Amino acid sequence: MTPEVIEAGAVRLRPFRLDDVADTAAACADPVTRRFISGMPDPYTEASARWWITEGAPAAWATGGAAYAIVDPATDRLLGGIGLDEPVAARAQRQIGYWVAPWARRRGVATAATRALAGAAFAAGTARLELLTHPDNAASQRVALAAGFTHEGVRRAASRGRDGGREDMIAWVRLADDPSGPTDRLLPDLPDGRLTDGVVTLRRLAPDDADALHRLHTRPEVVASRIPPVPPTREAIDRRCRLAESHWLAGTSADLAILDAATGAVAGGCALVHDEPATGQAMLGYSLLPEARGRGLATRVVHLVTAWAFEIGLARIWAGTRPENVASQRVLERVGFRHEGLLRGRLPGAAGTRVDSVLYGLLATDPRPR
Ligand SMILES: CC(C)(COP(=O)(O)OP(=O)(O)OC[C@H]1O[C@@H](n2cnc3c(N)ncnc32)[C@H](O)[C@@H]1OP(=O)(O)O)[C@@H](O)C(=O)NCCC(=O)NCCS
Repeated sequence: MTPEVIEAGAVRLRPFRLDDVADTAAACADPVTRRFISGMPDPYTEASARWWITEGAPAAWATGGAAYAIVDPATDRLLGGIGLDEPVAARAQRQIGYWVAPWARRRGVATAATRALAGAAFAAGTARLELLTHPDNAASQRVALAAGFTHEGVRRAASRGRDGGREDMIAWVRLADDPSGPTDRLLPDLPDGRLTDGVVTLRRLAPDDADALHRLHTRPEVVASRIPPVPPTREAIDRRCRLAESHWLAGTSADLAILDAATGAVAGGCALVHDEPATGQAMLGYSLLPEARGRGLATRVVHLVTAWAFEIGLARIWAGTRPENVASQRVLERVGFRHEGLLRGRLPGAAGTRVDSVLYGLLATDPRPR
C-alpha cells in the first residue's frame, strides 16, 4: 500500500508529521494505551514519538505495512493511530491495530478509522484482516464488532506482557467480502444493562463481584453442583469476573450477577451458556448465596433470563440438575421447564466417579406460568 490520504467522513487517515509529536506522546503515555499495546516504548516520551514519526512509521510503510495518523478532518489535529503489519503472504492476511487518544475516545473514531483502513486493505488485495485484542480490552472488542470483525478464537500466549510473561490474545477476523459491520451478536447487551422485575436485578458479572462469587462457589452445596465438584481457586473466580464482558461479546456465555433489587447486594450468580449456537440451544445455571434462599428469588431469576433468551432468538433452554437437587428441580418446574430424562453418568464426579444428571428443557413455544 502507498501512504495516500484516506478521507472517511468523521476521520481522515494521513501519514504522521512532526507537528504530531506532542499529541502522539500524550496519547501513547496514557495508561490505557500502555496497558493494551505492549510493544510501545515505556516510558513513552516526546523522543519516542519523534522516533516513531521519523523512523518507525516510515519503516512500516517500507516493509509493506501501513502506519496512519487518524486526524480530525476539520482541524487536522491528531485523534489516534492505526496501522497494518505482520503480513502472512500465504493467507493474504494482514494484522490491523489502532489506538485512540484519550481526548477522542467514545465517539466512533476507532470504528470509522478501522472501517476505512480495512476497505483500503481489501482493495489492495488483502483477503483476511486479523485483529488481536487483549481479553480484558472490551472497548477494542467492541470496535472489532462495530467494524465487521468476527470472533475466531483465542491465540494462547500470543503476546508478550509488560511484566515479561506471555498473555493470551483474542483473534477477530474480517474477510474481504464480509460486511463492514456491525457484526450480529449471539448475545446482545442487556437492555439498559440489566434485567429486573423490581425484586431481583440481573446485570453482567463484573470484576468487583469476585468476593461474592468466590464465597458462593466455595460453599459445599454449590461445590457439589460444579463440574467437577471441586472448589474454584480465587484466581479462577477473578478471571471469570474479569473476562465476563469478553465472553459475552464473543457470544459464548452471558455470565450474570444476581442482585437484591432493593439493596443492590449480590445475591448469587447465573449463567446462560451458548453451548450449541447452531441449533438455537443454550444451557442455564444459577446459584444463590444462603442468605438469599427461600424467598423465590431463583424462580424470578430463571423467569427473567429465559424471557430475555427467547427475545434474543434462542429456541430452547436446558438445565441439568443432580438427582438429589429437588430445590433446583422445583425452580425449573415453576418456570415451565419440563423434565426430559436422566443422563446416566453424564458428569465427572468426585474421585474419578461419574454422576447422573436430570435433564430439564424449556422451548420458546412452551407455556410459562407466572
Ligand atoms: C480501544 C479504543 C481504540 C477505542 O477507541 P474509540 O474511538 O473510543 O472507540 P469507538 O468510539 O469507535 O467505540 C466503538 C464501540 O466500543 C464501545 N466502547 C468504546 N470504549 C469503550 C469503553 N471504554 N467501555 C465500553 N465500551 C466502549 C463504544 O460504545 C462503541 O460501541 P457500539 O459500537 O456498541 O456503539 C481506545 O479505547 C484506545 O485507544 N484504547 C487503548 C489502546 C487500545 O486498546 N488499542 C487497541 C488494541 S487491540
